[in-house]
Amino acid sequence: MLMYDIIDKKKKGGELAKDEIEYFITGYINGDIPDYQVSALLMAIYYKGMSDTELLDLTNIMAESGDIVDLSGIDGIKVDKHSTGGVGDKTTIAVAPVVAACGGKVAKMSGRGLGFTGGTIDKLESIPGFKTLLPKEKFFEIVNSIGLSVIGQSGSIAPADKKLYALRDVTATVDSIPLIAASIMSKKIASGSDKIILDVTMGTGAFMKNIDNAITLAKKMVAIGEGAGRETAAYITNMDIPLGIAAGNNIEVIEAIETLKGNGPEDFTEICRNFSASMLSMAGKGSRKECIKMADRAIEDGSALCKLAEMVKMQGGDERYIYNTSLFEKAPYSYKWVSESDVYITKMDTEQCGRTAVILGAGREVKDSPVDFNAGIKFYKKTGDFVKTGDVVAELYSSDKEKLNAASYYIKKAYKMGSTKVKKEKTIIAYISKDNIIKY
Ligand code: URA
Repeated sequence: MLMYDIIDKKKKGGELAKDEIEYFITGYINGDIPDYQVSALLMAIYYKGMSDTELLDLTNIMAESGDIVDLSGIDGIKVDKHSTGGVGDKTTIAVAPVVAACGGKVAKMSGRGLGFTGGTIDKLESIPGFKTLLPKEKFFEIVNSIGLSVIGQSGSIAPADKKLYALRDVTATVDSIPLIAASIMSKKIASGSDKIILDVTMGTGAFMKNIDNAITLAKKMVAIGEGAGRETAAYITNMDIPLGIAAGNNIEVIEAIETLKGNGPEDFTEICRNFSASMLSMAGKGSRKECIKMADRAIEDGSALCKLAEMVKMQGGDERYIYNTSLFEKAPYSYKWVSESDVYITKMDTEQCGRTAVILGAGREVKDSPVDFNAGIKFYKKTGDFVKTGDVVAELYSSDKEKLNAASYYIKKAYKMGSTKVKKEKTIIAYISKDNIIKY
């Protein structure tokens, strides 16, 4: 077999056979096939796409390039969730405790932030003492005992994806629907959960900029999950505005805690209720309607908040922070953007908002750069809101005064203001399961 022939076949729109996909993935990992040939193939896939069969083969081969986690040591149905990335996405921190409080099992491996999107692991590490690197036995023990644990994804999960993603990043092939689908689903399949809920974000702060592409990506990921024997469904959610009010690390944890106390922002609360209900329903806890009620009850009676505190304690963190968020360290520097006129917010560039949070220190400009847990942004006003003279539009936080000065310039570029009111957009746009598309 020759890599040249595989590239040529895809360039002409042909369907790659399983052994051809295996050949290029294995050869690339082993170092037998050079970057330049894999780059050419990635670009051919970008333009010619992949059939459902090719995609399932590619995903399985990528998943099998490393460890396939066996979660059978944890009792019950394990349900996972995953977002394709966004700004202000602290969903796991609120949803996993709700699901666990209602009897579901969440054994979750999450990632760190890179680029303009934040990562759950960085956010959780802003809780003093919280450990995200645990031995497998401890991880299993925690989930068996309290129903949830969130740890960092180990390097041995889908190493082929790691190597391919790094190449996609420098060859302008990240935003390819089949490559995103295979990348995410290879990690989900290798992580071992029985059922998967996906959040396919759409808008200015997401890879998918329009509904057609978002539906195509969601359908492909659902088909891969189902093809791999995991019940899978996907929400399409709005990333034309940041999710909730806070984007950062400890300020997002605080917002997730407030949501578990019933005081969360409307959009984030809606996402949490729906995702929790879908995960619980998949775990056989009842109909979606019953599970929504169950999720609401877990917030009202405080049991979901207790679950988060239990997880924090079992992972070495200081649980007092969960019950008393004023203990979290505050950024020494902050800047309030105060409106000088009466205007409507007509549009937000969410990616620019995320990039501004990175400038403040909340995220990573390059892999392994340190994260400022106290840095971030609070978006007090978002698209569709009216802002009066003197209102605070957004507040920025950083441990570095110079970064704050730079970021205060960029945040204003992320907002478009006008004299005409625009309609607030929906938070949840669609729900896609194996045989159904529901538009909200
Ligand atoms: N997240 C991933 O893990 N992979 C992609 O390709 C895009 C987003």
